[in-house]
Amino acid sequence: MKIAVCPGSFDPVTNGHMDIIRRASKMFDKVIVVVLTNFAKKANFTVEKRVELLEKAVQCFDNVEVDHFNGLLADYAKIRDAKFIIKGLRAVSDFEYEFQMAMTNSKLNPELETVFLTSNSDYMYLSSSIVRQVAQLGGDIHGFVPECIREEIIKKYSQGGIKSDS
Ligand code: COA
Repeated sequence: MKIAVCPGSFDPVTNGHMDIIRRASKMFDKVIVVVLTNFAKKANFTVEKRVELLEKAVQCFDNVEVDHFNGLLADYAKIRDAKFIIKGLRAVSDFEYEFQMAMTNSKLNPELETVFLTSNSDYMYLSSSIVRQVAQLGGDIHGFVPECIREEIIKKYSQGGIKSDS
């Protein structure tokens, strides 16, 4: 069975992530979307909330599951018997950092291959921080995030914004 892990902070999941997840689900028998910690970033949504939003967003795929892990991606892949990491590349500027992560992960777990999918041109500009910023300032996030979670994100911000990791 070909198992791939699709890692990220997903703070929150965007339509750009969904495009990568959808395409990965066609390439692999099973795709595990895993919420991990990026130590360079301060989280806005709790891990539980990010998992909950992702679970709603991926419910239409029968071979995609959502999980979270507090540790190294390379270790998580080993535990789940996944041999592939799927990442989306939006622009050349993503490449250097992604290349460094792919090399590190393969040093830590030599069985791992990182597979890069080029982002759909519709989502090249999109990122989780863009979604947060627009929502926080009352802008329209229609088309930025899956419809089934849009209201929930707006509601969260309209209740006074999201404090760090709350
Ligand atoms: N479409 C739209 N947006 C995308 C995207 C896509 N296809 N791919 C990435 N993005 C966005 C993300 O939303 C994120 O936006 P933000 O910076 O506004 O939050 C940004 O691009 C960066 O994404 P990414 O490079 O995937 O970083 P991340 O923070 O989402 O995830 C981890 C990085 C969690 C996978 C990484 O830190 C990790 O593996 N952590 C675990 C610990 C570990 O193993 N460390 C060693 C790794 S070498």
